[in-house]
Amino acid sequence: MTTPMTSEMLDRFRQGFERAQAAGVPEPTAMTVSTVDDQNRPVARTILLKDADPGGFVFYTNLRSRKGRHLASNPAVSLVFWWRETEEQVKIEGVVEPVSVVEADAYFASRPRGSQIGAWASLQSQPLASRQELIDRIAEIEKRYEGREVPRPEHWSGFRTRPHRVEFWYGKKFRLHERICYELSGGEWKEGLLYP
Ligand SMILES: Cc1cc2nc3c(=O)[nH]c(=O)nc-3n(C[C@H](O)[C@H](O)[C@H](O)COP(=O)(O)O)c2cc1C
Repeated sequence: MTTPMTSEMLDRFRQGFERAQAAGVPEPTAMTVSTVDDQNRPVARTILLKDADPGGFVFYTNLRSRKGRHLASNPAVSLVFWWRETEEQVKIEGVVEPVSVVEADAYFASRPRGSQIGAWASLQSQPLASRQELIDRIAEIEKRYEGREVPRPEHWSGFRTRPHRVEFWYGKKFRLHERICYELSGGEWKEGLLYP
């Protein structure tokens, strides 16, 4: 368990996010999530942020996916947001912990039915013989849950990234960008500036 983010850090994130939304960034919740494989190689992909609170940054995925397997043996992650239209970047480094069953159930229940069916149908990151195989699996799951609610698959849930380092990057003229870094040291958040 790491120290929660301060309200100043969270406000800084939220304000940047709101500026990105207002500036029309197409997917402001999209972030690059890097995990580490069993040979210490970094692996990155895009994921949508679903929640941000003092405890950290939440995303959802298939626990049996490639990233899910990485995180089961090494909880280290890095998250990067790049908001082109506002020339801002947020870089987060931390470790994940699973969200609670209640939190995962509530989020799954809020998703469109098609996405709920998809969560069952997709064996995320496993080889797929043909597109038809996926279409057939979707039809099978739709039939299975016809006329009733789709429950959350046990292997589909979320992670909360508990940061130990958060950096805000603001693009400025002549590459004199502003970098504000918050880092945990001895259980306390320390704030400092970095050369661009
Ligand atoms: C814009 C965008 C948003 C995505 N959001 C998610 C997401 O929220 N959860 C997820 O599991 N995959 C999401 N994906 C797919 C992932 O990038 C990735 O292909 C998938 O999770 C499998 O990754 P893995 O094989 O490394 O586990 C998204 C892809 C894009 C391009």
